[in-house]
Amino acid sequence: MPVEVVAGVQWGDEGKGKIVDILSQNADVVARYQGGANAGHTIVIGDKKYVLHLIPSGILNAKTICIIGNGVVIEPRALMDEIKMLENEGIDITGRLFISQRAHLIMPYHKLLDEARETSSKEATIGTTGRGIGPAYIDKVNRCGIRIVDLLNRDALKKKLRSNIQQKNEILSKIYKKNLMNEDEIIDEYLEFDKQIDPYITDTSLYLNEAISQNKHVVCEGAQGTMLDLDFGTFPYVTSSNPISGGACTGLGIGPTRIDKVTGVIKAYTTRVGEGPFPTEFDAKTAEHVRELGDEFGATTGRPRRCGWFDAVLARYSAQINGIDSWALTKLDILDTLDEIKVCVGYRWDGREHKSFPASLEQVETAEPVYTTLPGWKADTTGVRRMQDLPENALAYIRSLEKMTETPVSIVSVGFRREQTIMV
Ligand code: IMP
Ligand code: MG
Repeated sequence: MPVEVVAGVQWGDEGKGKIVDILSQNADVVARYQGGANAGHTIVIGDKKYVLHLIPSGILNAKTICIIGNGVVIEPRALMDEIKMLENEGIDITGRLFISQRAHLIMPYHKLLDEARETSSKEATIGTTGRGIGPAYIDKVNRCGIRIVDLLNRDALKKKLRSNIQQKNEILSKIYKKNLMNEDEIIDEYLEFDKQIDPYITDTSLYLNEAISQNKHVVCEGAQGTMLDLDFGTFPYVTSSNPISGGACTGLGIGPTRIDKVTGVIKAYTTRVGEGPFPTEFDAKTAEHVRELGDEFGATTGRPRRCGWFDAVLARYSAQINGIDSWALTKLDILDTLDEIKVCVGYRWDGREHKSFPASLEQVETAEPVYTTLPGWKADTTGVRRMQDLPENALAYIRSLEKMTETPVSIVSVGFRREQTIMV
């Protein structure tokens, strides 16, 4: 049974939730490896729509065990809210959700610092989701963060909280001129999470390694996407973790030799939320049109997503960084009505055409996309269930993307419903 990583390869919102939900139909375990409640994974089953931020999409599948790995940053309040939401929906999670002892916590001061930084005139606005993600990972790297395991030791937790709050109060008041936080209020609130979270806390790395040894089918779920990766994305307009497939090893505590397969989730066009360069971005009118067709509004913040053409330079780069075996191509149906479709095949800067994705932010910002134009198919694909039934030009579009990215397509999604999926 394979261990499979599912990663987004653009700027997030590729439709990982739906793909993980489908792949988890026959998975024993689904494990999330990075990010936090900045993610928003939308899954539609029948007439019900679920939006999950922290808990893996596999939770909607009654037999699947779900893991939140050490690489995830967890806000206890958001986690308890999500657990309650699932219980209210009648989804039984007893014995099916395990949270790593080693995962770091997002505290109220992380959100305050996120907001303060974003609104400060002295620092660049990233357009974050405001969930405290960056500041929580800063504390992890700075070795002062508080971990899930700390919730189980009230005395130690109190000490760690007090020193963190005092330090953050200095930053908030002296650098950002904000009000002080009330130390005791926060401590009282967080001491109470021990009993609520205790039933879920596990050594998830041990659990996963044993599951893999027992030949269980494991799906590792990434959040965000490669272009938001801290190391390989459009730095500094990135998130503070590693959404790339390699993040599954550090974020779950499994070795690279254990991973059999990497599926890249890629949208048939491109979107991005927040600030930062986007070479194939549409003009305002086309953006609005495709945004309406594709319902491109953030699942977490509701922000309208920026939209653009498929970028094959970016996709080829992502395929390499992630070691993608095959693509799950999503939202093909959104292009159904377009007369023609452009694909970026190169970037022009310094008077030359380049085929590789630049590291320099300034180069990405000034790169002029070189397009090839393909004819649209002007037909409804939402009812198609087999490759051979796709309109000729839709099939030709997919074949072109495979050739340009040197990676085959194994799944095509033609709608938000589970059944609107073509398994190649
Ligand atoms: P942060 O992760 O909240 O710090 O935000 C950093 C950047 O990542 C911003 O541009 C966000 O819009 C973007 N981002 C974070 N999470 C997601 C996601 O789940 N989908 C799409 N963009 C995201
Ligand atoms: Mg999303």
